[in-house]
Amino acid sequence: MTTAIIGTGNMGAGLARALVASGEAVALGARDPAKATALAAELGALAEGGGIAAAVALADVVVLALPYGAHAETLKLAGNLQGKVIVDISNPVTADFQGLAIGHTTSAAEELQALVPGAKVVKAFNTIFAGLLGAEGRKGKVLQVFVAGDDAGAKAAVSKIATAIGFEAVEAGPLSNSRFLEPVGEMNIQFGFFLGKGPVVAPAWISV
Ligand SMILES: NC(=O)c1ccc[n+]([C@@H]2O[C@H](COP(=O)([O-])OP(=O)(O)OC[C@H]3O[C@@H](n4cnc5c(N)ncnc54)[C@H](OP(=O)(O)O)[C@@H]3O)[C@@H](O)[C@H]2O)c1
Repeated sequence: MTTAIIGTGNMGAGLARALVASGEAVALGARDPAKATALAAELGALAEGGGIAAAVALADVVVLALPYGAHAETLKLAGNLQGKVIVDISNPVTADFQGLAIGHTTSAAEELQALVPGAKVVKAFNTIFAGLLGAEGRKGKVLQVFVAGDDAGAKAAVSKIATAIGFEAVEAGPLSNSRFLEPVGEMNIQFGFFLGKGPVVAPAWISV
């Protein structure tokens, strides 16, 4: 199965590297297609790169590895998203990373779903720092990826991707639970960048 990844920054490149390292194919798309082409060339035969719509057309699961504020304009360039699984990894942080721009009664994921009613949005990976996407960064630890969404099949597809690259996928309920997951992502940023732990921490829900 090919996974489309839109965005070639820290998260997009990190997810692409991890998937290819696990033997999974990726289609990379970017507003500057040359950046996606260059990353694909670096990743080898399992990766191809180009424009946003071209990458979307090749996959049933599309990861938006973009700032929350870029979702709306990027979707306009994405072509037909009907029936696609769209993975929202974003934390809708303020410019200083100290707060969330939206929340309580909505979330970045729900706002995204409202933009693409015919697609199935799934929240995942927002609590995983980019440096922990690759197995080498995790030093043998199995981290949890919280997967929230309203479509069971879509969540299963995203959980399969998380599992393929070595994470434990945790069923996190409906998409509206993104209202709670996004603040957890912000708390992770607080621990990582403002409380001295570094971007090498991740939250986990532990059963006793
Ligand atoms: N970094 C982390 O550790 C981390 C962890 C969890 C979640 N996240 C979330 O993951 C998302 C991506 O973060 P990142 O760290 O990968 O960011 P990044 O390194 O800054 O990369 C952002 C990517 O988005 C593209 N982009 C920016 N504005 C755009 C626009 N208006 N239209 C189209 N493409 C646009 C950039 O393209 P250009 O190269 O053309 O600028 C780049 O490919 C964010 O929502 C963030 O909250 C990040």
